Amino acid sequence: MSEVKTEIKAGAKENCAENNQHLKRWCALPIPYPEPKVLGRNLYYAELLLEDYAGRVSEFTAINQYLYHNFVFAGKYKDLAELEECIAIIEMFHLELLAETIILLGANPRYYSLVDNQRVYWNASYVYYGNAVCDRLAADIAAEEQAIASYRKHQQLIKDPHIVNLLERIIQDEQHHLNLFTQAMRKYCPRHC
Ligand SMILES: [Fe+2]
Ligand SMILES: [Fe+2]
Repeated sequence: MSEVKTEIKAGAKENCAENNQHLKRWCALPIPYPEPKVLGRNLYYAELLLEDYAGRVSEFTAINQYLYHNFVFAGKYKDLAELEECIAIIEMFHLELLAETIILLGANPRYYSLVDNQRVYWNASYVYYGNAVCDRLAADIAAEEQAIASYRKHQQLIKDPHIVNLLERIIQDEQHHLNLFTQAMRKYCPRHC
């Protein structure tokens, strides 16, 4: 297939090094990310990834939710604040990997997704702000579970092994985040577990 011939690589070696800066973070899994690559341009695949990128359940929502939780936990719950911040930074790496892939697929990585075929820009109401530790951690756990489900669904629809492989590596991180948030929930909210 000509698709194979037009295989596009994100290229430069320095990109690869940049993509693995996450390994320095204490909450990161010590596994490198694959370099973003695609078999060829595909706007349908880009649309699917835009949901994970800046839809309601997305990396952009996770980043902003975890940063907000970091701000409100700081001072009173230092370990929780550090956890939220560290995971938010890992989600930024995911955002970057998706943006690079969306560009390779031929689309523009603006902060929107398609809802009923309409372009809907990301908005701050997607964030679960919460009122206390337990409802916030429960929302963070739900966010990770929903992210995994969305990535799994998109893995079924995307027939490009490079993208499927990248999503598999991101899912590993989301599973790790789910475990970390669940541990925090057990510590602070034993009645909720
Ligand atoms: Fe993520
Ligand atoms: Fe995550």
